[in-house]
Amino acid sequence: MEQMIVKAGHQLKGRVQVDGAKNAVLPILAATLLASEGQSLIKNAPLFSDVYLMTKLLNYLNANSEIDEDHNEITVDASGKVTTDAPFEYVSKMRASVVVMGPLLARFGHVKVAMPGGCAIGARPIDLHIKGFEALGATVTTTSGYVEAKADKLVGTDIFLDFPSVGATQNILMAATLAEGTTTIENVAREPEIVDLANFLNKMGAKIQGAGTDIIKVKGVDKLTGVEHMVIPDRIEAGTFMVAAAVVGGDVIIEDAISEHNQPLISKLKEMGVQVEERPEAVRIVSDGKLKAVNVKTMPYPGFPTDMQAQFTIAQIMAEGSSVMEETVFENRFMHLEEMRRMNANFNISGDTATITGPSQLQGASVQATDLRAAAALIISGLVADGITRVSKLEYLDRGYHHFDKKLRQLGAKVGRREAGNLSNEDLSEWLDSI
Ligand code: UD1
Repeated sequence: MEQMIVKAGHQLKGRVQVDGAKNAVLPILAATLLASEGQSLIKNAPLFSDVYLMTKLLNYLNANSEIDEDHNEITVDASGKVTTDAPFEYVSKMRASVVVMGPLLARFGHVKVAMPGGCAIGARPIDLHIKGFEALGATVTTTSGYVEAKADKLVGTDIFLDFPSVGATQNILMAATLAEGTTTIENVAREPEIVDLANFLNKMGAKIQGAGTDIIKVKGVDKLTGVEHMVIPDRIEAGTFMVAAAVVGGDVIIEDAISEHNQPLISKLKEMGVQVEERPEAVRIVSDGKLKAVNVKTMPYPGFPTDMQAQFTIAQIMAEGSSVMEETVFENRFMHLEEMRRMNANFNISGDTATITGPSQLQGASVQATDLRAAAALIISGLVADGITRVSKLEYLDRGYHHFDKKLRQLGAKVGRREAGNLSNEDLSEWLDSI
């Protein structure tokens, strides 16, 4: 089994390029199912394992999809005889596959999917998705681990979400594109990935207004057509490199990072004493690695993203003083901190709040990734720990980072991926110096 082998080294210096956004490309790929005519061409598609899984699901459904790895492009042709059953095999591996529900229900009046799985970061029900479909006129039943929705036709209506769920907003938005009449969805998620999805749908022929605000209006149309679209850059990957540079210290330019999408993170980094330069198509981080303690609370966009929580706690662990991290979006997202105990991190967790006293003198250890962002956080912590850190369960990392080790090495970090077997820390340290 491959592990990420990490040790502290020089400061990080240079340029790094972020990929397309995972959380934008997945719903956009699902949206290609809405096109009864033409082919869709998705550009700037990141080569993450979740993206491969989504294309496999599309192929299973008879929407022919192909990834061009040399150009980061995906073509999808859903104009043929698409099926409407998404089996356990796919959905259990990736919660995001539940967003095929809205498009399939809208276009074919039927969908059946296994109850979703995904990262183990909380209960993550889909009650809001289901309520939305029912409000549009569908009958939804859940039996033996499957959710099935049926409708002769969907009819536009007013929907108020109890919570601005990202997935529910996407699913209901897509279902409403082909409904009869107008749908108004209130208290929707405002994430940049929702705006990207709405832009894609509008190019396909949908009539959506208000994406990026908390009320979205959708005027139903008769049909949608395949189109070309360029996915926005991944703000979480960009944010991960911002935190890595802040913690390790150095001077890093993160190309294609859209600073507007990362304002809460940028303002917290500045509060910690990090220099952040916001450029039109990049963000530059200059840090001496000496950080001041700050308090953070995760919130739906435009608040501090839960997907940056794990990485940011490493900055808090390395900061001078007492910091608080409050996780309000998912109820079980401090699992990486429990792993960090083995690395000598000093913190207390009570309910949804971690109180962190820093700076800790981190010690390299063998740790396991517990979800996608935890994987990145543990690797960053290895870059400032004494000795060698081995991070396993890299399948989590691969869900949302491509060539993470290569990109860090490009910045001068001592990190590499391999089977470590019985190799001693001395052997691994030498190997890191040689790659
Ligand atoms: C999406 C992102 C994920 C991110 C999350 C929050 C994708 C592929 N994934 O996940 O990276 O961490 O947004 O920013 O875009 N909830 C309910 N009922 C529902 C739906 C959600 O109670 O029907 C709860 C969830 O349990 C969770 C919270 O709402 O506590 C947020 O979930 P949601 O915004 O739906 O996240 P996802 O779409 O799953």
